[in-house]
Amino acid sequence: MNISQLKDLKNKRKITMLTAYDFATANLVERAGIDIILIGDSLANVVLGLDSTTQVGMPEMLHHTRAVRRGAPNSLLIGDMPYSAYQVDPNQATANALQFIEAGCAGVKLEWFPGCADVATELLAAKIPVMGHIGLTPQTAEKLGGFKCRGKDAAGALKLIQEASLLEKLGCFAIVLECVPDEIAALITKKLSIPTIGIGAGVHCDGQVLVINDLLGLFERHTPKFVKKYAQLSQDIFKAITDFKTEVSLGKFPGPQHSFTITEEELKKIIEHEP
Ligand code: KIV
Repeated sequence: MNISQLKDLKNKRKITMLTAYDFATANLVERAGIDIILIGDSLANVVLGLDSTTQVGMPEMLHHTRAVRRGAPNSLLIGDMPYSAYQVDPNQATANALQFIEAGCAGVKLEWFPGCADVATELLAAKIPVMGHIGLTPQTAEKLGGFKCRGKDAAGALKLIQEASLLEKLGCFAIVLECVPDEIAALITKKLSIPTIGIGAGVHCDGQVLVINDLLGLFERHTPKFVKKYAQLSQDIFKAITDFKTEVSLGKFPGPQHSFTITEEELKKIIEHEP
């Protein structure tokens, strides 16, 4: 899958995107045939236990991107530009985006903010493919009225339509729509010739993305309405850990099948030589 093949999927079949942050998970995502792996800045919350995505920076994002690339050597990887990489000092954006490309990404994702069009223009001029992200933008959500659905009134919806159209015009290859009413996501999807990838944006988007820890039931702190848990791994992992603890306490683990032995003959020789 490359970016041009991905764009061609619009109106042909649904696109799947999942986040991954480590070697083992990325390998499973690749083997399952997911179209895009996003190294999301949700790394901050679901892996590093931080309160906000703004607390993660380029060093952490690149460290995890390299692990994902090792686990998914053939997948289309997109690096999520952390807040400090382009919103704090937009002059650093291109250099930071290039580091994602060097780490194995095909492109980067930018959340909408007032200077987004300028940064996108600069990256695209440097031939770095850009995926936009509009609607609920977690990096600036607190400043913009909280973590809730965007575009629920006409003014808000028209703003989203304008942002999406501008990002398409600038040359973005796809746009994530986060927490947008179904009807507005459908309108934007119909209007654009590039794919929309929804998260909390209904079924009419060209594709869907979820944070993998949410999908796996591996993040217990908060579950947004739009998340479907396809597994309950927190419970399974907790059970495995407590079973280990119990078996060790009872002397049941390790069993013979997990242990190494020597022959009776060799053992006898050792015992004979023991003082
Ligand atoms: O960081 C992330 O995981 C994301 C997805 C929710 C789209 O931006």
